This record gives sequence, structure tokens and C-alpha cells, in this order.
Amino acid sequence: MEAKVTAHRDYTISKIDDRIYSAFLEHLGRAVYSGIHEPDHPTADKDGMRKDVAQLVRDLNIPFVRYPGGNFVSAYNWEDGVGPADQRPTRLDLAWHTSDNNRVGVHEFAAWCKTVKTNMMLAVNLGSRGLDEARNFLEYVNGPTGSYWGDLRKKHGHAEPFDVKLWCLGNEMDGPWQIGQKTAAEYGRVAYETAKAMRAFDKKLELVVCGSSHSDMKTYPEWERIVLEHTYDSIDHISLHMYFSNQAKNTANFLALNHKLDTYIGTVESTINLVRANKRSKHKVHISFDEWNVWYHSREQDKTILEGNAGWPHAPRLLEDIYNFEDVLQVGCIINTFIRRSNIVHIACIAQLVNVIAPIMTEPGGPAWRQTTYYPYYFASIFGRGTALNLAVKSPGYDADVADNVPYLDAAAVHDEAEGTITFFLINRNGKDSLDVAFSLHGFGDPVVIDHQVIAGHPLDATNTLLNQHTVEPKKGTTAHVVDQSLVVKLPPYSYHMLRVKV
Ligand code: AHR
Repeated sequence: MEAKVTAHRDYTISKIDDRIYSAFLEHLGRAVYSGIHEPDHPTADKDGMRKDVAQLVRDLNIPFVRYPGGNFVSAYNWEDGVGPADQRPTRLDLAWHTSDNNRVGVHEFAAWCKTVKTNMMLAVNLGSRGLDEARNFLEYVNGPTGSYWGDLRKKHGHAEPFDVKLWCLGNEMDGPWQIGQKTAAEYGRVAYETAKAMRAFDKKLELVVCGSSHSDMKTYPEWERIVLEHTYDSIDHISLHMYFSNQAKNTANFLALNHKLDTYIGTVESTINLVRANKRSKHKVHISFDEWNVWYHSREQDKTILEGNAGWPHAPRLLEDIYNFEDVLQVGCIINTFIRRSNIVHIACIAQLVNVIAPIMTEPGGPAWRQTTYYPYYFASIFGRGTALNLAVKSPGYDADVADNVPYLDAAAVHDEAEGTITFFLINRNGKDSLDVAFSLHGFGDPVVIDHQVIAGHPLDATNTLLNQHTVEPKKGTTAHVVDQSLVVKLPPYSYHMLRVKV
């Protein structure tokens, strides 16, 4: 089968906001405890953080990590996580039916962010709590010494403000599962007043208001409209979440799901524009897609704990999806969608980062390794920075549940003007046939292939596990060539590609 990709130097979507390669870390299962933090581990640093995990995280060059939740944040008392660690209370976590000894809190998280060279995106609790705790938390984190909260932070060992600029106003407040769920109007009011108070402290903060938990919510997209009517000029981003499942074991339908994601983003973009027009506002609100990933492999095994039949375990194995080769293709398609929508999506967070639906897994006392999905995230984060090109893609396609004529070829391209490179991210959704792709590049010099990384040739259910950590890994590609000054590449059935050319 054949496909054609046309690109023009001046036909661009947007300069990509690097923050679309961000991640999320929640106090959930083993994400924090025995994920990033394991004081007894042979690689633990002086703060009890695993150095082997930190290295895998650092390699990803992650711009921001969202913390501490998630559903967890909606009943979280941030004060429990500060002060002498051995005096912190153990609390029951109502979101995940577990307990948390609070050994990690905002100080430990901040130190870890420094170690892994990332920035904090913090969430305030607007579920069980509200404006007052939010402003106190903000003052504790960013306030000057000489004030009550600033002095307390100093007493706890950090005189300098942490200077966190990006804040989420609650989490998934539309969800019936959320502690303190609200109607759109209730949440809109609380979010507005909280934003007002936080801005009174620092008008330069970037604030993220909750959109729908997913696009199948009954209240979507009215939720977005109402919440934005209340908050539009006081916030900067509206948060969306989406998880992808192949419970039905239908690969064609599964790999078409980024079309649903694309429609979701488009609808919320229209809603933002509607409210902006209604308000005669000049202010621009963008999308923070701050939870996305494949999530379904662990649903069955998690039931015992989530239904409350295991007591209140501390850091149990929860949401530990073991990703396969099929998920590599899916994660590649999802990230391509964010690149193609980079005009409106300014933040996106893979959910999550370690152990919990995560690209990195750990064994207590043992190794840390890369899941299959680490690689498409890695390639995008490292090479997907620059300007998104608006490609014209001609590819044969197939009809799926969520869309007709889904192209077998999913493609995105990023132009790095300073380096003089274009990086293509390509997925062949066809499991039977190869795709011969011919590129037509306009306004660039003659292309020279400088790198081609391929993940292909595995059974769809192939995984990387504790015992077999390297089953699914990228290999150097051999099928990209320049013929008569034109770039061509052969994509084998079910394959992921990162193809870089100097132009
Ligand atoms: O990432 C797991 C959970 O998914 C988060 O806590 C919540 O926000 C979402 O429902």
C-alpha cells in the first residue's frame, strides 16, 4: 500500500509548547512509595529517592510533573505532608481505599523535581476543602518569609519560596467518584473565587480549571461552557482527561481512538471560543490535557482493593498496567494528536509516570525498567520540540467505531528551524500490509536522513517485564532513503517510527 505526505515550511500549525511532554505523579499505589521513594533501596539518595528511577525520569527531559493528584487530591490535607517526616500522620485515602503515611510531601517532591530536572505543577484540593486551604497552601509554597506560612516553610527547612507558577484548581470535579463532586455552576463559582484569591497573591500564576473527566460524561460539553462562563478571564487553561482501553480486543477500533481524542479537543476549543466571544474577551484560554494514557490491563486485578476488600494497605500494587507492543502504537497516535493540536493544547501529562499506569516500572529492592510505552514518549519529548507542520496526508484507510476512513498512516512532523531538522512520527495502523510512504517537502533543502528508530515486528501482546525487560525496544531503521532528492520510507505492518531528516 502507498501513502503520501506533503509538508511546506510555511504551512505550520503552531510553535509547540514543550509542556505537552509533561507527566503526572499521584499519591496512588506505588507511584510515590517504592516508585520514586524507597529509602531502603540500594540506589536511594539521602532523601530516600531511588537514583535508578530518577535517571530514567531525567532521560525523558520532562518539563512539568503534576502532583499530588488526581482523585487523591480531593481529600488531601497538604499540611500532613510537611514538618518532621516521622511525626506526620497516617491518613486513610478515600479515593483509592489505601493509607498514606505522608513520608513524601511537597518538600520531598520539590527536591526530587530538582534532581530529575523538572518543574512542579501543583493541585489544590477543591473537593473536601476550598479557597482558604488553597490560599494557605499557595502561601506556604510561594510566600515570603516574615509571614506565617513562609516562616513555617523556613522552619521545615526551606527558607526560599518554591516559586511554583502552575496550579490546578481541583481535579475532575464533574465526576461522581470525586470526593466533593460539584455541579458545573457550583464548581465554576468556587474555582472563580479561588482563582481570584490566588491571583490576589500573585497575578502571574498560571491556573488550570477542571473540564470534563472524559468526553463520555453526560455533562460534557455543557460543563466546559458553564465553568468557563464563571472563570474565563481568571484562568489560563481548561483541563481534559482521557484514558484508552482495548478491553474489547479489537485493535482496529483501539488504534482509531485518537480520532475521538481529536474531536474532544476540537469541541472544547470551540467551547472556549464561544465563551470568549460571549464575553468579548481578548484573553486566550488553552487546553491542559493533564491526564492521558492507555488504562485497562489492571482493571480486574484492582477490584479487591478498590472495592474495599483488602483493608487500607499502604502503597499496594494498584493500576499496574503492563503495557504491550499494541500500546506503543496507541501512545504514538495520542502524542501525534497533541502535536497536530498544539495550537490549543499547551500542556499534556502522561498519566502517570512510575508504576501506576506508567512508562517506568520498579521492583521494591530490585530494578527499574522501561515499559514498552516509554519509547514513543521518549522520542516525542526529546525530538518533538519545535514547530508543528501542517501535513497533508494521503493514505488508504478503514472504517472504525469512532470514525470512518481512519488513515492507516498516522503522521505528525516537527520542524526545528535552529537545528535545520524535521522529525516525523509515523505509525502504520495496518497489521497486514506495509506502507510505502513518499514525502514531498517544500521550502526546505534536500533532505538527508540522520536517524530512523523503529519499533516493529512484535506480537501485539509483547511486553517488557521484570524478568524480560528488553523485549520491545527501538531498533535502527533501514528503510528510509532519499531517492532523486525525495524522501521515502517503508513502514512494515503495525509499526512505530521516529524519522529525522536534516533539511
Ligand atoms: O490517573 C488515575 C486517576 O484517573 C486519577 O486519579 C483521576 O484524576 C482519573 O480519574
